[in-house]
Amino acid sequence: MKIVHRLYILLSVIIITASINLFLLLSTTQGYGAESNVTIGLYEIQTKSIVQGLLGADIAFLFLVLFSTTRSLNPLKSLTGALARIKEGKYGEEIKYESHDEIGLIIDSFNSMSKALQEKVEKARQHEIARDEFLAMITHELKTPLVPISGYADMMLKGHMGPITESQRERLEIIKTSSSSLLALISDLLDAQKLALGQLKFRKLENNVKSTVEKSVELMAPQAIVDKIELTHNAKDDIYTTYDDERIRQVINNLIKNSIKAVQPEIGKVNVLLEDSPTEAKISIKDNGRGIPKEAHDKIFKKFYQVDASLTREKGGSGLGLSICKSIVESHGGKIWFESEVGKGTTFAFTLPKIQQK
Ligand SMILES: Nc1ncnc2c1ncn2[C@@H]1O[C@H](COP(=O)(O)OP(=O)(O)O)[C@@H](O)[C@H]1O
Ligand SMILES: [Mg+2]
Repeated sequence: MKIVHRLYILLSVIIITASINLFLLLSTTQGYGAESNVTIGLYEIQTKSIVQGLLGADIAFLFLVLFSTTRSLNPLKSLTGALARIKEGKYGEEIKYESHDEIGLIIDSFNSMSKALQEKVEKARQHEIARDEFLAMITHELKTPLVPISGYADMMLKGHMGPITESQRERLEIIKTSSSSLLALISDLLDAQKLALGQLKFRKLENNVKSTVEKSVELMAPQAIVDKIELTHNAKDDIYTTYDDERIRQVINNLIKNSIKAVQPEIGKVNVLLEDSPTEAKISIKDNGRGIPKEAHDKIFKKFYQVDASLTREKGGSGLGLSICKSIVESHGGKIWFESEVGKGTTFAFTLPKIQQK
C-alpha cells in the first residue's frame, strides 16, 4: 500500500471519529439555559448539518481511498503470481502496468529481470545443445577408425594375411577384445547423446516379440557358455506389436549382459520370460545374481551410475546401459522397472504397448 494511501485512510478515520464525537457532544448539550435556547437551537442545527455533511463526505472519501488502494494492489498480486511461476521455471512473463508510480517502478524492474532471465536460460539451452551435438560428432569420429582396427585384427586371426605365431595370436586377441569394448562404449555414448538430443531414429514396424526374444538369447548364448551360466527363455507364442526390432533387441541384450555379469559361474541362471496381455507384451529378465542394494535403487537408471566400480573394471561397462534401455522403452510408450534382493537375484521387466505408437 502506498504511503499517501495510508495517510489518507488515517486522516479519514481521524475526521470520522472527531465528527462523531462532536455530533454526540452537540446532542448532549441540548437544554442549557432557557433564555439562550433559541440562539443555541439555531446554532446547533447549523453545526449539526455541517458535521453531518462533513461526516458523509469523509465516509465517501474513505471508500474512494479504499477502492483505489485495492486497485493499486492488483499489479502486486500479478507480480506475486509471476514470481511464483519463475520459481517453477517459467520465464519471460511480462506484467502490464501503465502508471509510473512506485509500483510501476517495481513492475518495470520485474519485467526487465524476467526478460534477462529468459535470454540467459535460452542461451544456456543453446549451449547445451551445441555441446551435445559436438560430443555426438566426436563420438562418431572416434568410432570410424575402430572399425578397420577390429576388422584387420579379425582377418589376421583367421590367417587371411598369412600364418601367425602363438604370441602374435595372443596380441591380436587383445587388440580385438579391446577394440570391441571401446566400440561398445563409444556406441553407448553415441546412443545416449542421440537420445538426449531426440535424434535417435526408430524404425517402428509390426514385429513378433517372440522372435525378437529368441534372436537376443541366441546372440548372448555363446557368452553364457563361456561364463558357464544357464541362459533360457520361455517364448512360445507369437505376440505381434509395433516396435523397432533392433532397438528392443539392444534393450534385451543389455539386460541379459547385466544379469550375466551379476551371477556366478556354474550356479548362475538367467531366464528371459515373455508374457502376453490384451494391452501389452511384458518381457522380464530374471537372474539369481548378487542383487542390487536398496540405496542404489533410485540411481540405477541414471547415466554413468554403477553400484560397484571395481567390478566394472573387471567385467566392463560404462554405466550407460540402463539409462539407454529406459529411453528406448519409454520412446515406445512402455515402462521399465526392477525388483531385487541382495544375495538372491534381480528381475528387470519392461512392457511394449499394443496400441499403435506414432
Ligand atoms: N541384474 C543385475 N544385478 C545386479 N546389479 C545390476 C544388474 N543390472 C544392473 N546392475 C547394476 O546397475 C549398474 C548399471 O547398469 P548399466 O547401466 O547397464 O551399466 P553397466 O552395465 O555398464 O555397468 C551396473 O553397474 C550394476 O552395478
Ligand atoms: Mg549394462
